[in-house]
Amino acid sequence: ADTLGAAAAQSGRYFGAAVVPNLLGDASYSSTLNREFNSLVAENAMKWDATEPNRNQFTFGGGDQIVNYAASRGMSVRGHTLVWHAQYPGWVENLSGNDLRQAMVGHINGVAGHWKGKIHSWDVVNEAFEENGSRRQSIFQQRLGNGYIEDAFRAARTADPNAKLCYNDYNTDGVNAKSTGIYNMVVDFRNRGVPIDCVGMQSHLGSNSNLSSYEANLRRFSDLGVDVQITELDVGGSGSGQANVYRQVTQACMAVTRCTGITTWGITDRYSWRAQDTPLLFDTNYQKKQAYQAVLDTLNGG
Ligand code: G3I
Repeated sequence: ADTLGAAAAQSGRYFGAAVVPNLLGDASYSSTLNREFNSLVAENAMKWDATEPNRNQFTFGGGDQIVNYAASRGMSVRGHTLVWHAQYPGWVENLSGNDLRQAMVGHINGVAGHWKGKIHSWDVVNEAFEENGSRRQSIFQQRLGNGYIEDAFRAARTADPNAKLCYNDYNTDGVNAKSTGIYNMVVDFRNRGVPIDCVGMQSHLGSNSNLSSYEANLRRFSDLGVDVQITELDVGGSGSGQANVYRQVTQACMAVTRCTGITTWGITDRYSWRAQDTPLLFDTNYQKKQAYQAVLDTLNGG
């Protein structure tokens, strides 16, 4: 196959990109998107600050644009993200105890309920662990305790029963203390029947990233009976160094049956959150980079 999406589809996987609603009308952006990708995620438009700027007042405009764009082109949508320590609105800061818990559940009901049936996978909780494998001391952790993550997953299951529910994090690019903390949480959730279906490996990488245990890490999660997804892939660098890291990540996903898809955190270096690192598959003029060819060849089994 000669596009990323079609090549990934040969093995039942998706190939997605994070997108910004305002750029969907840009011809260069949308033509590359439409040609190469078959899954979308909102880079910012579905986050708490964007969707519930005031309590119980929901604003779905940007997210709706993305969901409608995907629906009319047969693309799937990842939902990102319901509960995160960053990009939540100011009103959340002032809540405590039970009120904060009710606000979190209300947010999940409102947002996951609005797009019920239209989201392939939700990042229910994002970045809740520290590098050493302990829980990040977010306002949710500090004010609600360990139980907030499972409360969020249960609320998400109720709000959108058919969406796959993911835990999503970064620096989980191998078997390390952080990924082991997450692994232990998934083991516990599976043992106690807390709903969780997938783990997202963000994979914000560089050309020097050591990926020697990347595949083993995907495999140990998939052996627990959850899917794994590469959710925010980007690799700083250029040329063959960058291409090799993209190739290794793609190979690892292809080698693990339950690795169901790859999303890059943007389309073009022009609009990347780390543009100075030129981390994406298309350059600032939407030309295919060496990394693009490495990913395409790997998806095609080469
Ligand atoms: O929405 C405001 C806009 O009103 C204002 O005029 C403008 C001025 O700077 O800022 C806009 O907000 C920015 C927002 O992106 C939307 O463009 C924020 O300042 C900016 O901090 C925010 O950055 C996003 C970042 O998450 C926030 O933490 C990046 O675009 C986005 O790529 C990044 O994505 C995260 C994932 O969600 C989670 N994993 C890591 C990843 C990279 O940091």
